[in-house]
Amino acid sequence: MLEARRLVKVFVRGHFLRQRRRVIDDVSLRIGPSETIGLVGCSGAGKSTLGKLLARLLEPTSGQLLFRGTDITHAKERELKSIRRKVQIVFQHPQSALHPRMKIADLLKEPLKLHRLVGKQQQQAAVMEMLARVGLHRDVLHRYPAELSGGEIQRVVIARVMALKPCIVILDEPTSMLDISIQAAIFHLLMQLQHETGVSYVLISHDLRLVERLCCRVAIMERGRIVEKREFSTNTS
Ligand SMILES: Nc1ncnc2c1ncn2[C@@H]1O[C@H](COP(=O)(O)OP(=O)(O)OP(=O)(O)O)[C@@H](O)[C@H]1O
Ligand SMILES: [Mg+2]
Repeated sequence: MLEARRLVKVFVRGHFLRQRRRVIDDVSLRIGPSETIGLVGCSGAGKSTLGKLLARLLEPTSGQLLFRGTDITHAKERELKSIRRKVQIVFQHPQSALHPRMKIADLLKEPLKLHRLVGKQQQQAAVMEMLARVGLHRDVLHRYPAELSGGEIQRVVIARVMALKPCIVILDEPTSMLDISIQAAIFHLLMQLQHETGVSYVLISHDLRLVERLCCRVAIMERGRIVEKREFSTNTS
């Protein structure tokens, strides 16, 4: 469904003394429907950068990116609009994804309005459905993000992402800021949503044990390269 072929990303710094850094180096990866792929590596290995390339938030320096067989490597903003809806990212710091001065009710309505997913009359019902899907109580609707726990915020972020009916969600260390007991609940929710919708995940993590449990395939990254790929036949996803 999404295929990266020999992706390279070079960041250039400075105007005069140009410093070039090859942050992603010759990475090939394929993500099929309803799969969970793991991306593991130490800090600075290039995991988040690869995630952004896969979602086409960044343009690769070379290589190819194909979504359902269409080359989107250099697609322009207009073409990217529908792809952005289909390939979503959940970031490491969930707070940064939510406007601090908007109430949860408005934050949940935002993607519905932006992508014109439902009419004005159906918005309220759609919001209630989003809340139920991620296991949040309606009490949160009139609060601001700062008045929610980390786990609740991540549920709001997941509700907003899943409302767009994405094909692929890139989960960039989605629970690294959360307490360990809440981490398990969030992963349980994500797996349940995958079961219901058939969405694919790219799970970025430092934690190989966690990834082994949830993923069918894992790519291990070091300094911008995939150094090892592993498959786990026991996992069904
Ligand atoms: N916009 C940018 N310009 C220049 N260098 C960048 C940019 N974004 C990332 N980098 C560099 O690329 C390297 C990889 O960063 P990246 O955030 O992808 O790593 P990561 O594997 O996600 O690390 P972590 O586990 O800490 O999140 C780092 O050395 C970082 O400094
Ligand atoms: Mg990162």
